[in-house]
This record gives sequence, C-alpha cells and structure tokens, in this order.
Amino acid sequence: MTKVFKRIIDLSDSPASLGVHIMHHLADYHDFVNSDYDIVHSERDLIERFILFKIETLNKLDYSKIANRAFVIILYELCARLSLACAIRLENILEGNHLDLGSRLKATQLFLIDIKRNSDFIDRYELICELLENAYKHEEDDEIKVVNTFINYFICVLKNAHPNYIKQLIEKISVSIAENKYMFLNKETFNSLIQINPNNVVESNNVIQRLFVETWNTSIISENNKSEKNYETENNYLNKIQATDSTCNSIRQISLDTINLLPAHQRQDLYDALLRGVKPLATDLELCAYMAFYMPMHYSKLKDAYKYLPKDFCGEDLEIYDWGCGQGIATMALLENPNEINYNNIRSITLLEPSPLALNRALINVEKFIACTSIVPICLFLNDTNQTDFENDINRNKLHLFSNIIDIENFSLNNLLNLLVTNFKGLNYFVCVSPYIDDKKTARIDSFVDFFSANSSYRQYCKIDERKGQWIKQWTRVVRVFEVYIN
Ligand SMILES: C[S@@+](CC[C@H](N)C(=O)[O-])C[C@H]1O[C@@H](n2cnc3c(N)ncnc32)[C@H](O)[C@@H]1O
Repeated sequence: MTKVFKRIIDLSDSPASLGVHIMHHLADYHDFVNSDYDIVHSERDLIERFILFKIETLNKLDYSKIANRAFVIILYELCARLSLACAIRLENILEGNHLDLGSRLKATQLFLIDIKRNSDFIDRYELICELLENAYKHEEDDEIKVVNTFINYFICVLKNAHPNYIKQLIEKISVSIAENKYMFLNKETFNSLIQINPNNVVESNNVIQRLFVETWNTSIISENNKSEKNYETENNYLNKIQATDSTCNSIRQISLDTINLLPAHQRQDLYDALLRGVKPLATDLELCAYMAFYMPMHYSKLKDAYKYLPKDFCGEDLEIYDWGCGQGIATMALLENPNEINYNNIRSITLLEPSPLALNRALINVEKFIACTSIVPICLFLNDTNQTDFENDINRNKLHLFSNIIDIENFSLNNLLNLLVTNFKGLNYFVCVSPYIDDKKTARIDSFVDFFSANSSYRQYCKIDERKGQWIKQWTRVVRVFEVYIN
C-alpha cells in the first residue's frame, strides 16, 4: 500500500496544490492519525521529512480554510504520538493562525515546547494533568489518547531529565493516584509506570514503550451482530413506557425518575463516568443517566436541524437510517410531531448501534412513536459493517441521521463513505449534528460533507458552526443538512 506521506512529499511545492490535495484527502489523514501505532510509526521518517522540507509551503497555506487548519493539527498530533522534535517547526503556524488544538494537544505543548530546565517538567505537572482531565471528560472519545499523551510526557521526562526529577514526577503521580485526583490517571494503567527505576533509563523506557504501544492498539471489538429484541430484560422499562405518552419529554422522564432516586454524589459520579456517552453504554443506570443529562441538549439541536430539511422530504417513500443511534433520540425527535412528517411514507427505520443495551432501548422507544413500520436493529460498530448488513430499495429516498457520531474518531471515514456510495443509491438526505469540540473534529465532519459536495446534485440546506456563547445555554453545535443523489 502506498505510504500516505510518500504521496504528499512528491507533490509540488505550491501551497495551492497542497491545499487542493488536503481538501480531497483529509479523510485519509484522519484515518491515518487514528490508526494503530505500528502503522503510524512505519511512516515516522516520511512525516519528519515532510514537515522539515515543506515547512515553507505549510507556512503559506490558507488557514481560513478549516481543512488546512485540521491538517496541521493532525501533523502536530503525529509529532506528539511519535515524539518528533520537529513539532516545534509547526508552533508558529499554530500560534499565528490561532488554531484550536483542544486540551490534549495543549498539554503536549507543555512538555514538548519551550522546556528550559529540568524543573519545568515538574512545575508544569498539574497544568498538564488538568488539561488532560478536561480532554478526558469533555473532548476526547475515550481514555486511550489521553492516557498515551500522559505516557508520552513521562517518556519525555525519562529521556531528558536528571533521575532526581524523574523521581519527583513518580512521586507526584503516586500522590495523584492515591488521592484519586484525576479520572484518567487510574491505578490499573499506571501501576507499572510508578514502579520503574529512575536510574535505569533503558529498562524503564522499554517498560513504558510497551505500555504505550499496548494502549494505542486497544481496538474496539463488537460483541454481536444483528440484534434481536430482548423485551424480557426490559420488563420494568416496558411497563413504564406503556404508561406514558409518545413525547420525547415523557420518555426522558422515565430515566430522570430513576436518576433522581440516587444521592447527589452518585449522580455526579455517573455523569463523570459517562464521558459524553461516546462509549457504548453498558448498564441500565448509564442508559438512564445519558437520557437524563444529555437528551435536552441533543433534542434541541436535532429539532432545530430538522427545520432545514426541505418541506417535501417525506413526500415519497422514505427509509430512515439512524447511525450510532444510542437510545434513538434522533429518530424520536424526528417522529415526535405527526404534523411535520408523513408516517405513511416511512417504509423502514434502521437503527445501528454497538451497545446491545442502548439498541434494545432504542427499539422500544422508537416503537412507541411508530408501530407499523419495519424497524431494523443492527448491533455493530461502523467499521464492522458491510454492504450485506443493509437491505434497501433504490426507488426509496433515504434520510440519514448522524447525531453526535461523525465527530467520534474511532471509525474510518473512508469506510463509511464507501459504504454509503456503494450501497445507498438514489436520493439521500443527511442530517449531521455534533458538538463543536475543536478544528480537527469539525473538519472531520466537513470532509464527510465535502466528499458529496463535489457531486452536481448536491444541495446544502444548512451549515451552522457555533461555539460556547454563540447559541443557547453554552451549548455548542456543528450542523450540516444536505441532499445528494448517489448514482
Ligand atoms: C454521543 S452518543 C450519540 C447517541 C445518539 N446518536 C444521540 O444523539 O443520542 C454516540 C453513540 O455512538 C455509538 N458509537 C461509538 N462508537 C461507534 C462506532 N464506531 N460505530 C457506531 N456507533 C458508535 C455509541 O455507542 C453511542 O451510542
């Protein structure tokens, strides 16, 4: 397979041609930076050469374009993953163009850049941990990248500082672990790290490198395939849902009632452990907590996004696909108001979700709104899907709901795009809603949209980017609504 960075090194030196390449291939770079350590490491020299030889071209890229901003952030991320000193060459671009790195990469800057004396590593410890904790709780999809950034920090100190400072760092980590100060800094992962011998750098480095590679390569394995309804385990929930009306608010109230029975500290712990609900939910309490804490925000964003769909989007036979549906909030919000959607034209609703518990509840929730349509549950991670998982009809229009999913970086954008263009022929409507987290995640959504925008049938209905304070209640949003005819 052609190396990703071999191709780009061979490109001409003009910022314009690099910009065009980035616009067309950003999804490749997103997939590459999120791939296993060995794959990224195999291009270490090429990445270094690219940054060093093309820095002038990089300096002159048009940074009003989000794809270019995201590309440099991805380069920075690669430097951080591979501990490349050439990261410093990107600093001027980052600073001069106010690129939004997100908290985790800001933490990386603190141990990679501008270290003048050994004590800087130690003095910056709390700040690094606070940034990583913020990333863990509010920005990243899971703990893997956060944990590895911290391990990278440790490796950096191990390689560059006197053993006395390594000892000080180990002491600080031990205290933080004992006090349970940071959620990401847990005993299980970091036990081997605090036991290393600061005077034996080579051996310690080996132990840590192993930990580093192992954590990066922790891939998600799906549990099962197509899901069967499992009403037995949900008797309690079923009884409650039968007694409520078909509104999103009433459905949320069932979860809220469960959560309100818990003492305040347990509610807070649950909220912290949810981590935005990005990871597949695994217990009944987590399901309830997600609905109680997150539903109002997601619901408001979705309701607003649906307003931008063309009036007649449900005027003909329609198939609905809710990707990473969780408990089905996006579908429920769509179906809630019968005046806005013609139920008779909905031929099928496909719910794809890797958590069997959440999927089961999504089925029950969605059936509360529409009983007679075929509802197809698929219990899979996106990377594990293939064309045979979807049976659709070229003559029916399709509506794809991507609610808080495209920003998640644990699946390949290229795989998803391939699946869509090969399997979803005909007229497709897309509603994509995510929070604004940083430039890289927003550009991931844009590279998804850009893939279709080159098609002459593409029509954009809505493009909203709002950060904290620009919309209601300090909620952020990135919304894209469009249609495209896939031949
Ligand atoms: C933030 S939640 C959004 C859930 C739902 N769409 C909503 O808006 O409430 C992200 C969902 O994506 C699912 N998920 C995470 N990684 C996934 C992947 N690789 N493929 C498919 N779904 C995934 C999670 O299980 C979770 O239900």
